[in-house]
Amino acid sequence: MCRLSELPDNQARGFQVSMAGAAVAILIYRHSDDVYGYRNVCPHRGTTLDWMPDRFMSLEGDYLQCATHGALFEPTSGRCAAGPCKGKGLTPVALTVSDDQVWLAE
Ligand code: FES
Repeated sequence: MCRLSELPDNQARGFQVSMAGAAVAILIYRHSDDVYGYRNVCPHRGTTLDWMPDRFMSLEGDYLQCATHGALFEPTSGRCAAGPCKGKGLTPVALTVSDDQVWLAE
């Protein structure tokens, strides 16, 4: 899908992937050598999180933020920490990393 080395640390990027034959928008957050994948769908109203391509982080850079109503999500768990969907969470997408390549886990 992409190279780990192309993902900036503590940032997220969006991708379109095929899952079960359907196109699905996901985001990948990198923290050091770990990656966290989520569906790019806010649990509040079902919109995508990014207000511009690959703009997922809050101003302080601590949270993934939904552009529509500002919900904040912990980037390593997907849990909503503040906002209208507090207590809910992003849907995780399992990823694997091998030889600098990030893949969807089988
Ligand atoms: S749609 Fe994301 S916070 Fe409302």
